[in-house]
Amino acid sequence: MERFCGFGSVLVACCLMSGASVMVHTVSHSTCKSCGPRPASSIGHKCYPDCNVSKVCPNPEDVCAAVWWREAGIVTMETMCHNPARPLYSVMLKDYSSAECLLISKHVAGRNLRVCACTGDDCNKHVLLSKLSDQEELTRPFKLRKLCRFCDIEYSTCNATGVCESTCNITSICESPNEVCVGAWKRNEGISSVETVCHDVAFPFYGQYLTDNNSSTCVLKPVKGTEEEFYMCSCNADECNAKLIFNVPPLKDKRTCLPVLLVSLVPLLVVIVLLVSSFYIYRVLRQQKLKIKGMESEIFINDDDHSDSSSAKANNLNHNNELLPIQLDSLVGKGRFAEVYRAKLKQGLMSAGEAFQTVAVKIFPYEEYASWKNEWEIFSDSELRHDNILHFLTAEDRKTERQYWLITAYHERGNLQDFLSKHIVSWEELCRLGVSLVRGVAHLHSDQMVSGQPKVPIVHRDLKSSNILVKTDLTCCLCDLGLSLRLDNSLSPDELANSGQVGTARYMAPEVLESRIDLENIESFKQADVYSMALVLWEITSRCSAIGDVREYEPPFGKLREHPCVESMKDDVIRDRLRPEIPASWSQHTGIQFVSSAIEECWDHDPEARLTAHCVMERFDDITSAVILPISSEPKSSEDSGNDDK
Ligand code: ADE
Repeated sequence: MERFCGFGSVLVACCLMSGASVMVHTVSHSTCKSCGPRPASSIGHKCYPDCNVSKVCPNPEDVCAAVWWREAGIVTMETMCHNPARPLYSVMLKDYSSAECLLISKHVAGRNLRVCACTGDDCNKHVLLSKLSDQEELTRPFKLRKLCRFCDIEYSTCNATGVCESTCNITSICESPNEVCVGAWKRNEGISSVETVCHDVAFPFYGQYLTDNNSSTCVLKPVKGTEEEFYMCSCNADECNAKLIFNVPPLKDKRTCLPVLLVSLVPLLVVIVLLVSSFYIYRVLRQQKLKIKGMESEIFINDDDHSDSSSAKANNLNHNNELLPIQLDSLVGKGRFAEVYRAKLKQGLMSAGEAFQTVAVKIFPYEEYASWKNEWEIFSDSELRHDNILHFLTAEDRKTERQYWLITAYHERGNLQDFLSKHIVSWEELCRLGVSLVRGVAHLHSDQMVSGQPKVPIVHRDLKSSNILVKTDLTCCLCDLGLSLRLDNSLSPDELANSGQVGTARYMAPEVLESRIDLENIESFKQADVYSMALVLWEITSRCSAIGDVREYEPPFGKLREHPCVESMKDDVIRDRLRPEIPASWSQHTGIQFVSSAIEECWDHDPEARLTAHCVMERFDDITSAVILPISSEPKSSEDSGNDDK
């Protein structure tokens, strides 16, 4: 009532000020194309989004706008209404009066985005390349842009000697004249890969500026400060990165040096023979061990854990003509946007005798492009690689099936919720599951790598036991990163504004349920994740035999099959300040008592009072380092386990 009266008085005041004559102003609102990120296609200098949705803009000052970018050969456009007084993807658009949407280039947080705004209904239905680009396209000879091998990351048999040839033969015309051909060779846990791309010399590649931009050959040089073997090179002749050369130190004078060289090579050869044979034995033994442990799904990896920049993308999209030979087996999970299948990758990546490898394939219909793209972008960030985060292999655009795929490691024990429904865990198993979960979250949230190199923090925003997988060694890994958010400077105000309430109501922190999360403070997103993590730690603890009688598995706040809505969760979590029960019996075991107090500190109503994941990890490490023993591969099922862990 009060609000209504206030509004009325403003109206009266307005009428008085306008000389009491009633004037009706018709404020016009633009109509603009308004689609999320969509694939786009170019005709001449115009680029059209694959989208036909127009919207009347909510504010009279709004103009039409578009954002354009290209990654791994895919051109994407996002169209929207936009208030030009505010930045768009951190860019203040000065010229929006034109009737055409003329793209300008901006480098925002490591990405080369192009943005534009225009005035007039649906003027963003297509975009135009900027004048400069137009001129470049029309007047500069085409060959000024380099022709380079562009195969992203492929497995390689090279061994850090001689000439390493790229095994794929995809050649691309680089996007801009500033780009040179680049090659990188890496070896991690015995697996070698070669990466070939075009790259703009103005920006770092894996955190390093390219130095050999005038060379006509690609001579690999070791990159220091990474945890694995990593070599890079760049060159400036067409297709010069098809051959990557390991630099053998030149011989000064062949005649005089030869005998000396031969003699000095003998010990080296002996060492090499010893190394090769021990490496071979190590590989054979490791293979056997992996097979015994049933860890087949762990052995392929996206081995690029070395970068230090926010733009460090593995960018490993499989081009359509080189799709992996994958045969889908059975459906193992169904989510909001996609289905997950167990599948056979029909290629022995590790040892010659293997006919296939088991992988998981997450399949998104074409309509869910934005979800696939977000998860792919999160996964392809090489900084993400961690034992407690699902290992990602590659993404594919399966054009004929009109599907997008994400291919990852497969974990036969399935998700943590199903696992806890069927198994009781011992104190040691609780420690393994709990510590690994906390480590995964701490890595995700962290702003630096173990090596100290900077990393973009990521928040999961949908942590729950069904989004966590149990590995064969009874450690956890986080999956389903479709709602995750990279907390870097490229977050637009719109992205931030839309990030207030996402996730699953049962696991939402009080401030998320109320949509009162502090969007200005990136820590607040992490605090909401910590709350959800506490509920998962409670779920694991509630199934631990160390606490005495173990009840049937129940998720936090109620029954398994029910899906509480936001309003009913608000009643429980905010109005009644309820949290899952911590029975008195939990304080009879020193370890469980410690875990319970960490849980309580993590689900505090006040987000600021919660522990950080890093702090929980350090506490857990202290208490559990003595406990975590090698785990047998078969945990007890709820039917056959006893209370023998006190
Ligand atoms: N369910 C969802 N993702 C999975 C994976 N990678 N392995 C096993 N089960 C899954």
